Amino acid sequence: MSQPRSLVTGCAGFVGSHLCRRLLDEGHLVTGIDGLTDSYDPAVKRANLAGFAADPGFTFVAGHLADLDLPPLLEGIDYVFHLAARAGVRGGWGAVFDDYQRDNVTSTQRLLEALRLKPGARQFILASTSSIYGRDPPLPTPETAPANPQSYYAITKLACEKLAAAYLHHFDVPITTLRFYTLYGPRQRPDMAFHIFLRSLLRDEEITVFGDGAQTREVTYIEDAVDAILLSLGADRIGQTFNVGGGTYRELNGYLEELEIVAGRRFRRRTAPVVEGDQLHSRADVTQARDVLGYAPGWSLRDGLQAEFDWLRAVYDDPG
Ligand SMILES: NC(=O)c1ccc[n+]([C@@H]2O[C@H](COP(=O)([O-])OP(=O)(O)OC[C@H]3O[C@@H](n4cnc5c(N)ncnc54)[C@H](O)[C@@H]3O)[C@@H](O)[C@H]2O)c1
Repeated sequence: MSQPRSLVTGCAGFVGSHLCRRLLDEGHLVTGIDGLTDSYDPAVKRANLAGFAADPGFTFVAGHLADLDLPPLLEGIDYVFHLAARAGVRGGWGAVFDDYQRDNVTSTQRLLEALRLKPGARQFILASTSSIYGRDPPLPTPETAPANPQSYYAITKLACEKLAAAYLHHFDVPITTLRFYTLYGPRQRPDMAFHIFLRSLLRDEEITVFGDGAQTREVTYIEDAVDAILLSLGADRIGQTFNVGGGTYRELNGYLEELEIVAGRRFRRRTAPVVEGDQLHSRADVTQARDVLGYAPGWSLRDGLQAEFDWLRAVYDDPG
C-alpha cells in the first residue's frame, strides 16, 4: 500500500494525541477529528495537539461526531481509529447521561452509519474499556466474561461495542475492538487517578483515598497501548475483541508508594467511602492479545510514572 490514510477520532485527547504522533511517525497520512468537548478544559486538548498539529501529514477537523457531515471525511480512508468518547467512570448520575449518550452512543452510531454509506475502509478500530466488565468479574478477566457495566460511561461504551458488532454483522463494517485497562503516561486526562495524585504531590494538596486502598487495578502505559492498537491492524483481526492490559497489577496503596518514590515527596491523605460505580478490582487476561497480536507490554511502572511525572512538572511549572 502507498501511504496509508487514517482517520483518528478524539485526536486531541490523551490516547488520540499519542496515536496520531505514532501514525505520522510510521508514515500514515492522518485526519484527526475532535470536538474539543467540555469533558475537561479544551485548552488542555489544544495543547495535546501541539506535538503534531503542524506535521504536513496531519489535517485537523474541529467538530463533534454528532454534527459533522461524516461520509465525505471517509473518502480514501484506509483505517478508522475511533477513540472519541466521554471517558471516565466518575461522571456522576442524572442529567449528564445526555452528554454520555451524545458523545458516545449517537456519535458512534453516526460514524458506523457513515461507514455503511461509504464503505472502503479496511478496518475500524473501536476503543473500548475494561469498565464494561463491571464490579466483580473473574480475575484475570478474559474477553468472554459477562459485561456488567456500572456507570453511564461503561454502559454507553458497551452500547458502542454492540452497535459496532451489529454493523459488522449486517453491513460488513470491519470492526476490531480493544478493551483498554487504565492507561497512564504523559497527557493522561486530568480526571484520572495518577494525574490527580501527582498533581497533588506537586502542589502539596491533600488527596482523597476511596475505601481502604486495597482495591486493585491493572494499568497500562500509553506507549504499550499504542503498540496494541497498531498490532491490531490486519484483516484477520476483524470481528475480534482484545483486552489490552499493561501487565502491572497492584493495590492502590502500592501505587501510592510508587508515586511517592517517583516524585520524591509524601502524600497528605484523607479517606472517603468507595464511590458508587467504581470497579473494586481489575486485572486483564491478555492471552488473546499476546497469542493473536503478539502484544507484549514492555514499560515498567517506575519508568512510566517517571515519564508522566516529568510531563506534569512542566505542565504545572514545578521547578523541582
Ligand atoms: N484513558 C484510559 O485509561 C482509557 C481506558 C479505557 C478506554 N479508554 C478509551 O480510549 C478512548 C480515549 O480516551 P482518552 O483517555 O484519550 O479520553 P480523552 O477525553 O482524553 O479523549 C477523547 C477526545 O475525544 C473528544 N471527543 C469526545 N467525544 C467526541 C465526539 N463525540 N466527537 C468529537 N470529539 C469528541 C474529546 O474532546 C477528547 O479530546 C476513549 O474511547 C475511552 O473510552 C481510555
